[in-house]
Amino acid sequence: MHVPSLSQYVRQSRLTAVLVLTLSFAAPLLVAQKPLQTLLVGVDQRKTESLNGDWHYLVEQPPFRELYDNAGQIRDSGYARNTHPNISSGPHNSEYDFATAPTLKVPGDWNTQEPTLFRFEGVVWYQRDFVYTPKAGTRSFLHIGAANYRSVAWVNGTRVCEHEGGFTPFDCEITSAAHAGTNAVVIAVDSTRHQDDIPSVSYDWFNYGGITRDVSLVTVPEHFIDDYDVHLKHDATFSAKDAHTLTGYVHVQDAPAGTKVHLNIPEAGVNTIVSTDSQGRADFSVDAKSLTLWSPESPRLYRVELSAGQDALTDRIGFRDIRVDGTKILLNGKPVFLQGINMHAEAPVRGGRANTDEDVNNIFSMLHDLNANFVRLCHYPHDERMERRADRDGIMIWSEIPLWQRISFDKEPVYSKAEAMLHEMIRRDRNKASVIFWSVSNETPRNPARTEFLTRLANEARKTDPTRLITSALIGPKVDKPQILQDDPLMAALDVVGQNEYIGWYEGQAEEADEKTWTFTANKPIIFSEFGAEAKFGNHGTAKDRWTEEQEANVYEHQFNMLRKIPAVRGLTPWVLMDFRSTTRNIPRLQDGYNRKGLFSEKMEKKKAFYVVQKAYKEHSVGKPE
Ligand code: GCU
Repeated sequence: MHVPSLSQYVRQSRLTAVLVLTLSFAAPLLVAQKPLQTLLVGVDQRKTESLNGDWHYLVEQPPFRELYDNAGQIRDSGYARNTHPNISSGPHNSEYDFATAPTLKVPGDWNTQEPTLFRFEGVVWYQRDFVYTPKAGTRSFLHIGAANYRSVAWVNGTRVCEHEGGFTPFDCEITSAAHAGTNAVVIAVDSTRHQDDIPSVSYDWFNYGGITRDVSLVTVPEHFIDDYDVHLKHDATFSAKDAHTLTGYVHVQDAPAGTKVHLNIPEAGVNTIVSTDSQGRADFSVDAKSLTLWSPESPRLYRVELSAGQDALTDRIGFRDIRVDGTKILLNGKPVFLQGINMHAEAPVRGGRANTDEDVNNIFSMLHDLNANFVRLCHYPHDERMERRADRDGIMIWSEIPLWQRISFDKEPVYSKAEAMLHEMIRRDRNKASVIFWSVSNETPRNPARTEFLTRLANEARKTDPTRLITSALIGPKVDKPQILQDDPLMAALDVVGQNEYIGWYEGQAEEADEKTWTFTANKPIIFSEFGAEAKFGNHGTAKDRWTEEQEANVYEHQFNMLRKIPAVRGLTPWVLMDFRSTTRNIPRLQDGYNRKGLFSEKMEKKKAFYVVQKAYKEHSVGKPE
């Protein structure tokens, strides 16, 4: 056996050391990083490159062979390859060509852009080129604000992400898939409804398909801030006069333990440095020198500057406390009454999915005109612009995931989907002071499987975000008797109970509401989260004539007579701000494809019922904070 001399041994060791060092440094580069898929919190506050605009599109009919193989698995060898036919000779590709295909606007549902796609439910393929300049030490993500319902994205033929759910954002790393110069991105969006999706196959809104919110390219340093939570310390008691402790965390993706994180809130006299743990998370608790709490009357937002290593971003965050005390809802320690309204993410006047600044301006002009201080964004997370504007304007929000009809509550994979959507909703908006409620569902049938499923989900919501109130909108009991008893066991899992009922429209005559009394077996705040009636704008008659504006207004008068007598009512969200498209509303000349329970028509025309609600809210004549 050859024994190396000391000098040989030292040289050999040095070589080995260099080799090990090189490999260990190079290893991560050598092993192609699996593209990261995440949800970048605060991405709308970062400098990004917009990919909004004209995208080529191709429509695929069932069985969507270009997207799924015979086993239903996603194919990377279909339209995802973005090849071009050899027109003049030789074998064709699979006979498509994005480069010369027509275009759709992104963001935007395809239904209201292309008449031939108005009722189309299926797969639409989107493609566009983009120019990219790799920069050493940075990583790039394709940000998609929302795409309904199931999406897959490729860059230059490499699959970079898949996402299920039509109303929450996702970010797909493209660093290793993109190259300098012109790149091609392909996104397939499948709007087909399935029994075990969320929502399931049946709902009273329009299944707008497509890339329905903004798309952009986000470039961040190697280690970057992907998640954070900065909130007013929320513990067993609250005192407005000395609420000044801010707590939360900052997460730095792939950062080694001990990475310094700088939190600076100049106007609050906060300037602190904390370090990440081995998971990249830095928790903090810091006392502000001064703090004005966020409220509808004073929607104070603070510049919150976060930085870690090469990364930095500035958000604008309001600090407030929301909690219940018996049947009262306390905002910053003071009882509050929520004068609200329901709304779908339907774009006023132009129709389709609401996803622009102009849409949000129109929506908030209606909310302010109504004297509302609260809005239920039903039945799914809306465009993030809504929370940003509500933060600035001082409107409180009920935010919800689309668990409604026909849900398979007995299936664990469905629970996992619901929990993923809940986490995405909370992660995107947990730094928005305007959001005060997370809702786990709407009008679900009362049975043990559903109660267990939603109790588990409500507890998960509370564990994920202990600073907000957890709610759900209940349906039932039958309201055909003068005394109505609500004893749904789900109430035990909620902080605030939502109650839907349609006395005067689906059940009985409007005047019967005057004699109704309600008993809730839970001693908790109650929000009457849906009530109302249908009317076609401009259709007039007597208070007895259904579908007239006078009849709708009359229902509200009698609803208010009933609601003002229920002591635990702490909020109202009538159904609904504005008429909205729904595939189940097809009475010619009255509905024509719209649910007509709006206080406004879809063209923002005010019905008589609008003035009944506007006056009640102005005079605070229905319900009391305590
Ligand atoms: C239900 C449901 C709404 C629906 C409304 C109606 O309660 O929650 O999504 O649109 O009633 O029937 O108009």
